[in-house]
Amino acid sequence: MAEFVNAAKMSELEEGKGRMVSVNDQEIALFKIDGKVYAIQEHCPHQGGPLSDGDLSGNVVMCPWHGMTYDITTGKAAPDAWDQSFKVKTYRTKIDGDDVMVEV
Ligand code: FES
Repeated sequence: MAEFVNAAKMSELEEGKGRMVSVNDQEIALFKIDGKVYAIQEHCPHQGGPLSDGDLSGNVVMCPWHGMTYDITTGKAAPDAWDQSFKVKTYRTKIDGDDVMVEV
């Protein structure tokens, strides 16, 4: 059953940047934008690139390996992505004080 698990501290996350965390053996990329935290699978479905290292532009992250782009709020390929069939898993997040929890 899915449950919210502590994944990071809000104060450790940098605005507009990704951070990889391991939660219950799942590698997840967290992104903080405007005080909200979004969570997607860490590994790009193309060839496994580390999405937490990707550049963020608004709510779109670009995979650092071959430039695939994803909307981190929906997990779908961004409108300008080179393959619209790719998508990434998203996770619900919850913020409790300084704790960032992810539903896994
Ligand atoms: S591994 Fe991400 S675009 Fe190729």
